[in-house]
Amino acid sequence: MGYQEVYDSWKSDPEGFWMDAAEAIDWDKKPSKALTDLGDNLYEWFADGMVNTCWNAVDRHVEAGRGEQTAIIYDSPITHTKREVTFVELRNRVANLAGALRAKGVEKGDRVIIYMPMIPEALEAMLACARLGAVHSVVFGGFAANELAVRIDDAKPKAIIAASCGMEPGRVVHYKPLLDGAIELSNHKPDFCVVFQREQEVAELIEGRDFNWHGFQYGVEPAECVPVEGNHPAYILYTSGTTGQPKGVIRPTGGHLVALNWTMKNLYNVDPGDVFWAASDVGWVVGHSYITYGPLVHGNTTIVFEGKPVGTPDAGTFWRVISEYKVKSFFTAPTAFRAVKREDPKGEFVGKYDLSCLKAVYLAGERADPDTITWAQNQLKVPVIDHWWQTETGWAIAGNPLGIEELPTKLGSPAKPLPGYDVRILDEGGNPVAPNEMGAIAIKLPLPPGTLPNLWNAEERFKKSYLEHFPGYYETGDAGMIDEDGYLYIMARTDDVINVAGHRLSTGGMEEVLANHPDVAECAVIGVTDQLKGQLPMGFLCLNAGTEKPDADVVKECVKLVREKIGPVAAFKLCCVVDRLPKTRSGKILRATMVKIADSEAFKMPATIDDPAILDEIKVALKGLGYAKD
Ligand code: COA
Ligand code: AMP
Repeated sequence: MGYQEVYDSWKSDPEGFWMDAAEAIDWDKKPSKALTDLGDNLYEWFADGMVNTCWNAVDRHVEAGRGEQTAIIYDSPITHTKREVTFVELRNRVANLAGALRAKGVEKGDRVIIYMPMIPEALEAMLACARLGAVHSVVFGGFAANELAVRIDDAKPKAIIAASCGMEPGRVVHYKPLLDGAIELSNHKPDFCVVFQREQEVAELIEGRDFNWHGFQYGVEPAECVPVEGNHPAYILYTSGTTGQPKGVIRPTGGHLVALNWTMKNLYNVDPGDVFWAASDVGWVVGHSYITYGPLVHGNTTIVFEGKPVGTPDAGTFWRVISEYKVKSFFTAPTAFRAVKREDPKGEFVGKYDLSCLKAVYLAGERADPDTITWAQNQLKVPVIDHWWQTETGWAIAGNPLGIEELPTKLGSPAKPLPGYDVRILDEGGNPVAPNEMGAIAIKLPLPPGTLPNLWNAEERFKKSYLEHFPGYYETGDAGMIDEDGYLYIMARTDDVINVAGHRLSTGGMEEVLANHPDVAECAVIGVTDQLKGQLPMGFLCLNAGTEKPDADVVKECVKLVREKIGPVAAFKLCCVVDRLPKTRSGKILRATMVKIADSEAFKMPATIDDPAILDEIKVALKGLGYAKD
């Protein structure tokens, strides 16, 4: 069957389609039906099935005779370490860790925060939680203590599993002080913490609260897999919304297993035993779905890469890893390729490695610009597939499903919707627009298995953020169009979310931090175009009357504040002081117009602008930051 037949077969019988896909999962009790309509536009998949994620990701492969196959390859050019873990070793390590967590009281439904860098132990911690039916919430290492504290207060974890440190090029990231700081800041306190002590740094443990990863596993009974309901939360992953309070996306267990497993062959075209590499971080959704769960559930070998596309040690790192481990499918963010292309435009490093194992490259996390795709196609001579998805969906909404049929590529488009997604382009009033016309991208409900059924502790926010604007649809927050051939184009966000080096960030969250500086009366943060990172945040500050501190000092303090409160990953370095912000007569800041001026794009003077002269002042400030070039 080709793409269209598969898509049509899903559309004519969605529940039958997913019940068939569910056959590939080991259920302790098979679900009696696929979809449950809870009313009020809320849905669940495989709710009455019983299943365990860790069993499907690990134990069942051992039972099936794949025990000696490598499950995880750890390659860390930063620490000069390489290590492989087989499925049987992984099973034993995870069962022990789960046993130790259980001995300390962690049970089904308890939350566990994981704050770890790219080491195999991060995956083991996730799987150990899954083994017990505990709900993990992984927090990206580039976030500061405050962000961790916000997540602790929302998830209310019984335990936190952390590492002593992370390794960034030229810098050790001291996790333990960040962890201690976060627990100090949070109202909720975990019962205990487990710390994996890395060779690079041994952290001081707090007596009675902190346990050493190795020591606390000593002599415990390994834990068996605990079956959970199909609608039981497998994990919570916090993602940026329009405010500083992140959204806790819930991933349901049954749908997650079914959907990810389906994508491994149909979208990524790998078979069990093949090596699959997603060069992301476990702190992001790509890491959850395609470093940990997708490949392991499907019986693939996954790679945990602790390095960067450039500088660890050079722009050939990706190609070295691909050829060394015979990677068949490779997934990364366009920004990573832009970084490589900038250092090695002619692809001299590419020629140094035998890349005959590589069959396809997948890009996501941000818009894949045609230049980057063309460069990668020319260098690697394999299909380069742009695919579009979100933390909320957990797997691709649109892509080129190579395992079904290779659709012709259209540059700038992530191809067509995958089965499960009925994608529509709507105008403000919720009416469909004509082909090639821009509008809000919405997905007809119900969303497919594996996507978010709700937000953690925030059902009203869930409805308001995603369901209310277009009744009967899920609002993606992206804007774009569909052409006459049914190809999707994702052009921009419709909210205050920006995408910096493939990392999703909230400008609203940054504004909240800046507004807390004692000299700042008012502020705005916008996302401006950047050749490498796609977008960069830029802050505009209006200071309180009578502020004596020089502007440059306030700017410096504000840059530091965002780094301290949100984290280095915010990459907030562009900031300036202005007298006034451009606003509508009703007081709304004209952020979109500021973005257009910064990016030197034509714009229409907003009819409702209060004082157009302010735009000239903004332009001068932007020029000072190297933007708004004529
Ligand atoms: N822990 C601590 N700090 C981190 C971090 C982590 N896990 N990840 C990034 N940071 C820090 C960086 O060290 C940097 O700090 P600095 O301001 O002191 O230099 C800052 O956060 C910004 O990081 P980043 O935006 O990633 O910039 P970079 O210059 O370090 O690297 C790229 C640029 C393009 C090479 C890099 O962003 C990249 O590989 N991106 C791919 C992203 C990706 O895979 N996204 C997942 C979606 S698929
Ligand atoms: P995240 O939740 O971090 O995965 O970010 C999701 C957002 O990133 C989407 O809503 C889009 O705005 C953007 N995004 C992800 N993949 C793509 C893509 N292939 N093309 C365009 N934008 C993308």
